[in-house]
Amino acid sequence: MTDHKQRAAVKLSDYTPPAFRVEHIDLYFSLGEEYTRVRSRMRLCRAEGTDPHTPLHLDGEALELEALYLDGQALAIDDYLLTRQGLTIERVPDRFELEVHTLLRPQDNTALSGLYRSGGMFCTQCEAEGFRRITYYPDRPDVLSRFTTTIEADRERYPVLLSNGNAVDRGESEGGRHWVRWDDPWPKPSYLFALVAGDLHCHRDRYRTASGRDVQLAFYVEHANAGRTGHAMESLKRAMRWDEETYGLEYDLDIYMVVAVGDFNMGAMENKGLNIFNTQYVLASPETATDADFEAVEAVIGHEYFHNYTGNRVTCRDWFQLSLKEGLTVFREQQFSEAMGSPAVQRIQQVRLLRSAQFPEDASPMAHPVRPDAYVEINNFYTATVYIKGAEVIRMYHTLLGDGAFRNGVRRYLERFDGQAVTIEDFLQTMAETGGRDLTQFGRWYTQAGTPRLRVRDAFDADAGRYTLRVVQECPPTPGQPAKQPFHIPLAMGLVGRDGQALPLRLAGEPEGQATTRVLELTRSEQAFVFEGLAERPVPSLLRGFSAPVILDYDYSDDDLAFLLTHDSDAFARWEAGQQLAVRVILRRVHGERREEDLDKLRRAFAGVLEHPGLDASLAAEALALPQETYLAQQLEQADPVAIRAAREGVRAELAGALAATWRTVYSRYRPQGPWRLEPAAIAGRRLANLALGYLAATGAAEDDERVERQYHQADNMTDSLAALSLLADRDDAAAQAALDDFHQRWRHVPLVLDKWFRVQAMSRHPGALARVQSLLRHPDFDLHNPNRVRSVIGAFAQGNPAAFHDSSGEGYRLLADHILRLDTLNPQVAARMALPLSKWQRYDLPRQQIMKTELQRIAEAPSLSNDVYEVVSRSLENIA
Ligand code: TRP
Ligand code: ZN
Repeated sequence: MTDHKQRAAVKLSDYTPPAFRVEHIDLYFSLGEEYTRVRSRMRLCRAEGTDPHTPLHLDGEALELEALYLDGQALAIDDYLLTRQGLTIERVPDRFELEVHTLLRPQDNTALSGLYRSGGMFCTQCEAEGFRRITYYPDRPDVLSRFTTTIEADRERYPVLLSNGNAVDRGESEGGRHWVRWDDPWPKPSYLFALVAGDLHCHRDRYRTASGRDVQLAFYVEHANAGRTGHAMESLKRAMRWDEETYGLEYDLDIYMVVAVGDFNMGAMENKGLNIFNTQYVLASPETATDADFEAVEAVIGHEYFHNYTGNRVTCRDWFQLSLKEGLTVFREQQFSEAMGSPAVQRIQQVRLLRSAQFPEDASPMAHPVRPDAYVEINNFYTATVYIKGAEVIRMYHTLLGDGAFRNGVRRYLERFDGQAVTIEDFLQTMAETGGRDLTQFGRWYTQAGTPRLRVRDAFDADAGRYTLRVVQECPPTPGQPAKQPFHIPLAMGLVGRDGQALPLRLAGEPEGQATTRVLELTRSEQAFVFEGLAERPVPSLLRGFSAPVILDYDYSDDDLAFLLTHDSDAFARWEAGQQLAVRVILRRVHGERREEDLDKLRRAFAGVLEHPGLDASLAAEALALPQETYLAQQLEQADPVAIRAAREGVRAELAGALAATWRTVYSRYRPQGPWRLEPAAIAGRRLANLALGYLAATGAAEDDERVERQYHQADNMTDSLAALSLLADRDDAAAQAALDDFHQRWRHVPLVLDKWFRVQAMSRHPGALARVQSLLRHPDFDLHNPNRVRSVIGAFAQGNPAAFHDSSGEGYRLLADHILRLDTLNPQVAARMALPLSKWQRYDLPRQQIMKTELQRIAEAPSLSNDVYEVVSRSLENIA
């Protein structure tokens, strides 16, 4: 019996406020190659209203305790209780000083949580519970304290010594060592603590705030990466300006530092005044980074910067409230990206990600509400649901309240709770008050898991000129939640006349209006909306802008979809119509249904997009991309990923052939001329040209194969080079192999680019991809210690290559399970993430389900499994409801 409840779960309902406050903490680090010593001096006091007999408990994990002093008195071994989870002192005064000495071996810390080494430097990762791997401390987000930190290390090896706040003192010490003292004026929870030491290059700049204060900006990278931080620096300045202009929020310290490290479990971390980033989201140069990488750098730089208010100044009471900071900050990041680029393209990409990452999670045994109510390992809850469904929930407040009230609400929330650790309820209350709305029912978005489905049916009464939309909402069962209450759902919609014109919307009983988009509010399981004054039956445009994270079910005809693709005034709805048309055509092929007119419909729809007079190249590239395999799989009760791949590739090849001349014209017209530039028109041109090249690679014509090879060899930038290389990785001829060898030869000393070399092969559509992944895992450049490399091979294969991963032999599953078990002994956080593809077993046919479950079982039964992996595999094996 595998039951995740066998391991202690933390429950939201068990929350109790902290019994002790930490008024101040003074940390001293002595960094060494063999071991590092940490001395912590804390001023503690019993919280008001707490029982005077409550013992003091401090969290601690994987630590060696060297000494402990209470008010200057050394404590003996029987004065306290030491366990694997921490330290308890039974009797303490109401106010006292505690000094704790711990010894660490950062060089052996492969979990990359707490203090560890990356390349030649020391760095920390404390969110969520890494600080307890540095010293004994009440390591919970509702304990805020003032930190001072002194770092002492070898001067030659570690000339740069950084921590949060301002550098207030420095000096030399014996044996070629030196030290720097940092003081952070803002009280913070321990998860925002950071320390970095190394021999680092610094790129400095300045930013003048709206009120005229000068802020120093400093990006620290290893010397080999000098010269690749310009884009991140400019992105930071844009983010600072945007937050001032949009939310009236100004940076609150004199210095903002960012350090890039090559070994990192996630994307980046918002430590107060000292962000630590995965190199992937800082470094960017045209030769090494794609346009998508440049955009991701800007987005993640913005995300971490925005946390300075939403997360740092106002933080979470407990980790169940994680979406309080993450959902809100992802939404702010999305708004920033929309403001910096094309809002419609951004929205399409957000929805694509939600559908490929969050919808499957919501339909799996790992489904959980945006605010979970129990966990074994909090690291497993940094999920697509908490982050991006959480952001969709914030977007719905924005839709329901309107932009002005929304911004006022966020500002009021930040003022009211400044310096506090609060709950999602506090946010909701403030927004309800500011918007003058009752959001009680809306709160169900936080507590009920699962993706609601909207079933829309319509009727037209020609005599009365009346059009009725009937909407039924349902939400499938999820673990522990067999039945759901109706959600409060904003449904943005419009009606399109037969001539393609947007029709004014007049609901029965309302005066004549001019609005052509409206937000209908669904609150009951079934509702009807009656529109009047219509001369003929309109085509409904539903869920404009993707106004809610739901699945829409309306029985459009193929012709309606083609019509909306051309005429809808809403860019998202146009894109969606095209995607749905392609979904149908591909799924008919999966079912062995071959309709002659199908290809013709798609061909005409695609040609229409390209012939549109005001063609926006980047929107066109989105519209002409076929729906992803994972999204196609979701449309089926039980999917066969190999059949889906074959059907999709078949349609791609036919569209390639039918439109070959068009693709060639598009390719040569849109490829930017002259040297590389990072400008919207150039980016859009590369995107559309590379999409065309993708189709051309499927024509089978020698001239097109050569076109791909030529682009690889002539490209002056990574976008074009990688686009060609990934098409070459689908082939296995001599030219393709030569290009892969060339790429490896050229980039083997640049880790982020070498990751791309691994990734394109792990995602290859060639039938031999599985065997190739097996050999990549034995490649001398593969390294289980580095999360980016693990994600580039194992992650890319298991999540990004469904047809190979789900090979009917089951070899893909076995290979994944073997590597999860090995990785778990090094880095449980990353190992648990790699196990997620197996949790989706219900979605596949029975023979595949069987092997997937066998592999989950094999992992679950392995001795000394981490809590992280144990929780994922044991939940995965449970029945949904
Ligand atoms: N708070 C970080 C962010 O979203 C996430 C993060 C970074 C993280 N590193 C982590 C979460 C390690 C858990 C573990 O910006
Ligand atoms: Zn975040």
